[in-house]
Order: sequence, then C-alpha cells, then structure tokens
Amino acid sequence: MSITPVPRVAVVVVAAGSGMRLAAGAPKAFVGIDGHPILWHALSRVFAAPTAQVVVVAPSDRQGDALSEVLAVAGDRRDLVSVVAGGATRQASVAAGLAALWADVELVLVHDAARALTPPEVFQRVIAALEEGAVGAVPVLPVIDTIKRVSGHEILAGVDRSELAAAQTPQGFRRDVLDAAYAASTEDFTDDAALVAAAGHAVAAVTGHPLAFKITTAADLERA
Ligand code: CTP
Ligand code: MG
Repeated sequence: MSITPVPRVAVVVVAAGSGMRLAAGAPKAFVGIDGHPILWHALSRVFAAPTAQVVVVAPSDRQGDALSEVLAVAGDRRDLVSVVAGGATRQASVAAGLAALWADVELVLVHDAARALTPPEVFQRVIAALEEGAVGAVPVLPVIDTIKRVSGHEILAGVDRSELAAAQTPQGFRRDVLDAAYAASTEDFTDDAALVAAAGHAVAAVTGHPLAFKITTAADLERA
C-alpha cells in the first residue's frame, strides 16, 4: 500500500462570503461562470499548482456542495482536501481554515475563491518566493489609473503611481508567522498581508496576473 506523503504547503481557499455586491441569488462561490461555479474554477487551478493540502472554507450550510466541487477536481489528490465552515468576516474564515491545517504544513497560501481564474503559475511564484526565504509573498500588479487623494469633492493631491500596486491572492506566508499574526490580531484587516505586516513582518511582492482579478460585481462575472 502506498501512502501519500504529507505536503509541506497548504492552500486555504476562502469561499464563505455571501456575495452581496454580486447579488446573484446564491453565495458567490456557487454562482456559475459557465457550466461550473466560481469555486470549481478556482479549485481546478489550485489542483494544477504544486501539490498542497487544500482546505476549502465554505458557508456553513454549503459545506456539502463545496465538498462535491472539490472532489470533482481533486483527482488523485482527494486525500489532501477538507472543507470547513467559514465565519462572519473574511478574516474569521481564514482563521477557520488555518485551524484545519495539518501539523507538517510549513507554508500557507490564502486564496480568494472569487479570484477564480488565477493561473497556477501565480501559486508557483508565491511558493518560490517563500522557498527562497521570504516570510510572506503577495502577487501584485501595477496600478494603471492615475490615482488622486480626495476629500469629498476636492482633489487634495496626486499620488505617485510608481509606489502603488494592486494586491491579489494567493498570498503566501510561513505557517508559524501567519498563525502567530492571526492569534495576536485584534482588528480587522483588508488582507492577510496587512495583518502580517501589522505584526511587524516584511512581505515580498511577486508578479501577479491580470487573470487573478476578483469577481466582485456582475460586470466582473461577465468578464470572467
Ligand atoms: N469570504 C469568506 N468569508 C467571509 C467573507 C468573504 O470566506 N465571511 C471570502 C469570499 O468567499 C471571497 C473572498 O473572501 O472568495 C473575498 O471576499 P469578497 O470578494 O468580498 O466576497 P464576498 O464577501 O462574498 O462579497 P461581498 O463583499 O460583495 O458580499
Ligand atoms: Mg466581502
């Protein structure tokens, strides 16, 4: 009998949001892009990336549906998957996913199911940065629009675009650092990189991908 070795990398796929802005009549991860829901698309790319434990964080009343989607794409990696219930905020959902990691996992990637078309190469780049010693690594893209700082209807100043980047997921971290940062955190952060940075760690930037855009609105779903 062969025993699958326990991977040292895990991917936590957060899919427990309600999708208020998409307003498609179902939790966003279960809204169809074509014949398949957003979650299926996200997971099919996760399983094309390097082998990892995969934890899907789903709405508590959709855990069975999430398991069906993950088993449909896991192939011979089905022993590496689990589904847990999410929380009221993204941060609470990530924390629920972290609680399900196996003891041997050393590197964790946190990925938004809503970034359904993120190519496997982005996962590879994040993992490579961590393996080269980064404590955290985040895919980013340059900001294209000219950005202004505004107050009400008044433009206060331009912002130097060369210093700005749009952050995507998967965001990867050393597992010990991410666990400790989550345990210590008392406020709500917009992403995991901000939470880890607030705990005093430097986070590296790697090249993101246009296909890693987040499906937020009906126009984004159309684009996908
Ligand atoms: N997410 C989650 N648990 C929450 C909130 C969000 O797992 N309580 C996940 C979403 O499922 C999504 C990712 O975090 O994959 C990014 O969140 P967002 O795009 O804001 O999704 P929703 O919160 O579902 O959408 P909205 O904010 O429009 O309600
Ligand atoms: Mg949200």
